[in-house]
Amino acid sequence: MSEPTPSQAFEDAFHAVAERHERIWMFISLMLLSLLLAGAAFFVVDAYGVVVKTAGYQTHPGDAAQSGPFTETGLERTGPNTYSVHMLAHLWAWTPSPLHVPQGADITFYVTSSDVLHGFEVQGTTINMTAVPGTIGAVTYTFQRAGTYNIICNEFCGLEHQNMLGRIIVDPAHGA
Ligand code: CUA
Repeated sequence: MSEPTPSQAFEDAFHAVAERHERIWMFISLMLLSLLLAGAAFFVVDAYGVVVKTAGYQTHPGDAAQSGPFTETGLERTGPNTYSVHMLAHLWAWTPSPLHVPQGADITFYVTSSDVLHGFEVQGTTINMTAVPGTIGAVTYTFQRAGTYNIICNEFCGLEHQNMLGRIIVDPAHGA
């Protein structure tokens, strides 16, 4: 019996059926992987209430968008030179937009999302936070310069992510 040539040995190995212990370990690996994925999916749905968008789409975070302060988004005066804004992120826009705010005032943004993660970044400022469904984030900022600022979603959120732009228009302070 002659030794098989290297290329023949490769051919044989390529077409050989996996050995029993190999098949067992392949099976165990696949089972572990499946368990991991199923567990992760269960954890996300159970712990965070995340659901895949369907016709009857509703999440706990969505409730926040339909009741409470986020139903009337916009600028609200809270002090002599302080304001609050309830900003709602949703697929794929910001509400309210365009938003007018006064120059030189302390503006506190309360930000949440009614569906998935979005990124609340205001171009040219230090505002950069994640809009998390079911959670309200807060950031206070003072616009020293009047003008138009872009709100950019910097968290990938689906098909129209790149078009998810909003506008903040900072109106010049009186006498400025
Ligand atoms: Cu919203 Cu990306």
